[in-house]
Amino acid sequence: MNKIPILDLKKQIAPIRQELDSAIRRVIDNTNFILGEEVADFENEVQKYCNIKYAVGVSSGTDAIKLALLALGIKCGDKVICPAFTYYATAGAIASMGAIPVFADIEPETYNISVESIEKVLKKDSRRKIKAIVPVHLYGQCADMDNILKIARIYHLKVVEDTAQAFGAEYKGKKAGTMGDCGAVSFFPGKNLGAFGDAGMALTNSKITADRLRVLRNQGNKDKYYHLVLGYNNRMGAIQAAVLKVKLKYLNSWNEMRQKNARYFNQRLKGLNIKTPFVREYTTHIYHQYVLRLNSSSRKLIEHLRSKGIDARVYYPVPLHLQKCFKYLNYRKGDFPESEKAAAQTLAIPVYPDLTRQELDCIINSIGEFLQ
Ligand SMILES: Cc1ncc(COP(=O)(O)O)c(C=O)c1O
Repeated sequence: MNKIPILDLKKQIAPIRQELDSAIRRVIDNTNFILGEEVADFENEVQKYCNIKYAVGVSSGTDAIKLALLALGIKCGDKVICPAFTYYATAGAIASMGAIPVFADIEPETYNISVESIEKVLKKDSRRKIKAIVPVHLYGQCADMDNILKIARIYHLKVVEDTAQAFGAEYKGKKAGTMGDCGAVSFFPGKNLGAFGDAGMALTNSKITADRLRVLRNQGNKDKYYHLVLGYNNRMGAIQAAVLKVKLKYLNSWNEMRQKNARYFNQRLKGLNIKTPFVREYTTHIYHQYVLRLNSSSRKLIEHLRSKGIDARVYYPVPLHLQKCFKYLNYRKGDFPESEKAAAQTLAIPVYPDLTRQELDCIINSIGEFLQ
């Protein structure tokens, strides 16, 4: 058992347990378990929170990406750009609907997709088969959206923001997930706003896209048993919506506590031979992960921290272009050097809101000990 886990949901849940219990009981009492009023209420709350016209509750973040691409007209055989350094699901969602992931490299400072790399990829695509970009707001800070949207306009590309890790982060005052044609949010339990199971949401300002999303998530139905298109069983459950509605009220304060912990780490790790997260001026960072970087492999430091009972991890140890499942795309080692370096040199340490000062100091001292 780790002394300091990467995330401690028991600590998050305990103070709001009664509220959560009564929200779940409400759903059990009314037995309306799928979609219905609970999901519609939560969708409304997210619309207000994000200042977006439409929020469509779905079964997971992965499904939100897939349904968003489909709703925007991306078809089997179309190519979709995404970063090589992200969680599998970004590219997995693209591939699962028959589209072809096309990888781009990342910025070494923020780990977000590099605009320069996107341009390079687009210039190489002489057959104009690239139809969309899925930038990822990795670890909780927004990608370079103005420039991504500018390129998208030039090349007539749809943009789906993978907001799985950045729900609540802001880019120039706008909420992550609200700038592209669609935003895809994950409420996986470990996310800053996490459900009690899988859940996700697609965000859009377009009524046409929202209507398509609602049909696609529900077996292609608009009216029950009349199927307009080939849809999916990708609906949000009412218990998840009820839980998320309770937790949404606390999200800003939880994110602020993560930011406070990050500031403390930044300040105390200054001067050591380790890079703390770099935050661009146009974005806030909600520290879904607090990611450090060494000049060499991070694995020994991770081992050291684990020996001290601190659960440090790498998100993600193998970039997507080198994953076995994407071998058919014919990428090679060396194709995306910044992604490969990030996979080797980074580590995430616990940053969750409920960490005590003593725990933060223990993490900092253990890092200092290793570096000296
Ligand atoms: C960057 C990124 N994209 C997509 C997903 C997929 O979300 P979900 O697990 O809700 O399907 C995740 C979640 O782990 C993620 O971190």
